[in-house]
Amino acid sequence: MEDHVEIRTIGVIGAGQMGNGIAHVCALSGYDVLLNDISQEALDRALATITKNLDRQVSREKISAAEKDAALGRISTTMVLADLGPTDLVIEAATEKEHVKEAIFADLLPHLKPTTILTSNTSSISITRLASRTDRPEKFMGFHFMNPVPVMQLVELIRGIATDQETYGACLKVVETLGKTASSAEDFPAFIVNRILMPMINEAVYTLYEGVGNVTSIDGAMRLGANHPMGPLELADFIGLDTCLAIMNVLHEGLADTKYRPCPLLTKYVEAGWLGRKTGRGFYDYRGETPVPTR
Ligand code: CAA
Repeated sequence: MEDHVEIRTIGVIGAGQMGNGIAHVCALSGYDVLLNDISQEALDRALATITKNLDRQVSREKISAAEKDAALGRISTTMVLADLGPTDLVIEAATEKEHVKEAIFADLLPHLKPTTILTSNTSSISITRLASRTDRPEKFMGFHFMNPVPVMQLVELIRGIATDQETYGACLKVVETLGKTASSAEDFPAFIVNRILMPMINEAVYTLYEGVGNVTSIDGAMRLGANHPMGPLELADFIGLDTCLAIMNVLHEGLADTKYRPCPLLTKYVEAGWLGRKTGRGFYDYRGETPVPTR
């Protein structure tokens, strides 16, 4: 048996916020990337975002114009999931819904070469459970990037109960090639980052809900008092309030502990469709020139 798998081509499923960032960093590090989505519009939008973010890196002299062009040249797009069949590594970054991810894997698996490592960028769904419904639980693991992907140094690597050492080693090598640092997490609800981050954000929403502070005082307190680059409510808007709520629900249900109960105010914002930056409104209103607190 070979002691490592050489990864050259990477398939990325989902061209949203995370998927485009993943395609960006993989292409910039020399991998050939095939980016898949069900909508051509999403693929076009992703390429425009990647170009804009690469331009930003050129203007800040992080990369050269030639490196930008080479990275863009390494990214192809497709609406046909089966086209990802011959890739060496697949990183699924579709919607954070278990049934969506399962349906994608079911469609993809018959086309996938036997050696392909299959990973999910899920921020909280059980890797072991996702893996058990594929034909390759030993070649399945969690590959969790942070947002914004081109900036954040960390990738959480999560082994399911069946993940083999060869798969872990190959993924670790990819993280190193990307110039990022891996943290190894066990497969328990929300892994490490979100296990710690989301209860903090949820507590910030309780602090708002109970009137201890308003949006400005809560965010200002944590930015200036704890040196966080963004306040917790600003960060929640950046991540997406639906995502924050979904992760709190995973913690609440998965660990069966009331300390993880989602704040009713967080639920209310999600019910209103005020999901943060992506919908123009959350704890701040982004529709004007500068963000304005909504409470
Ligand atoms: N692509 C490329 N580069 C980007 C970028 C992008 N999308 N966004 C920002 N940058 C770069 C900028 O070019 C800039 O680079 P230099 O420092 O080299 O000049 C740098 O990032 C800082 O950007 P800005 O000066 O524009 O803005 P900022 O100083 O306010 O920083 C931030 C922005 C990096 C997002 C910062 O506010 C931050 O770190 N926020 C916290 C982010 C965080 O916690 N992310 C984790 C979320 S949790 C998660 O992702 C897990 C989950 O499952 C939910």
